[in-house]
Amino acid sequence: MRRETRNVIETEPVGPYTLLRVERGEIEPGSPGQFFMLGAPGRLLPRPMSLALAAGNELGFLIDPIGPGTRALCSLEPGDRIAILGPLGNGFRLDVERPLLVGGGIGIAPLPYLSERLGNPPAVLGFRSSWHAEAGELVPNAEVVIEPTYVTEVMPPGHDVLACGPAPMLEAVRRLTPHAQLAWEAPMACGYGACYGCAVEIDGELKRLCVEGPVLEAA
Ligand SMILES: Cc1cc2nc3c(=O)[nH]c(=O)nc-3n(C[C@H](O)[C@H](O)[C@H](O)COP(=O)(O)OP(=O)(O)OC[C@H]3O[C@@H](n4cnc5c(N)ncnc54)[C@H](O)[C@@H]3O)c2cc1C
Ligand code: FES
Repeated sequence: MRRETRNVIETEPVGPYTLLRVERGEIEPGSPGQFFMLGAPGRLLPRPMSLALAAGNELGFLIDPIGPGTRALCSLEPGDRIAILGPLGNGFRLDVERPLLVGGGIGIAPLPYLSERLGNPPAVLGFRSSWHAEAGELVPNAEVVIEPTYVTEVMPPGHDVLACGPAPMLEAVRRLTPHAQLAWEAPMACGYGACYGCAVEIDGELKRLCVEGPVLEAA
């Protein structure tokens, strides 16, 4: 896999988040839940980002500006060049009969692309404020709840759950639906198995989340 360089098309605000739209060229979008390492110009380390949208000749990334790397990506301008490596890791299995997408906060990032690939199934999305909830408009067919209501209070039973969000939300979803597919996060320096920066304990063993995940079966 090669690190590619692409032009930024636009950065658009979506509530407190930024939708970064980049020219796709020959880059494969991969499966929903896979991720790309994105490097802003002048930044040493790239940052892992899920693919949010793959429309036409574009790749779209929904980014929460929480630190220097994400802030640099959110302040890119049209025509700026960006380094892209991916798609990386294991995405969601799409061979599910009754999909339900569950997302929390910036964890909704992979869900617009996942929804498109699954034919717009129902979704439940949780946010901490109505400003954050503006991002819910990117996911069709979604019920949006705002704290103090949590997604686990409105999840209809009897579905194949595919979820991405903060760790406490994923733990709560796992307790309710032991066969859910969950997309986890860990700090990642390389994204392809070389640095062990993303090692997490799975089944009592240390495993690299960028290789084994980021999507794992809840069980
Ligand atoms: C597979 C994967 C997909 C991701 N997809 C998206 C996405 O689509 N959109 C998005 O906005 N973010 C996504 N993230 C998270 C994003 O990569 C981090 O927020 C980013 O790397 C932080 O970089 P920074 O330089 O802005 O902040 P830093 O200064 O590096 O971090 C700021 C704070 O966040 C903590 N932190 C940083 N990275 C992580 C992490 N991965 N997990 C938990 N805590 C962390 C740090 O410890 C620190 O406290 C994803 C992460 C992974 C692993
Ligand atoms: S991020 Fe380097 S091994 Fe996973």
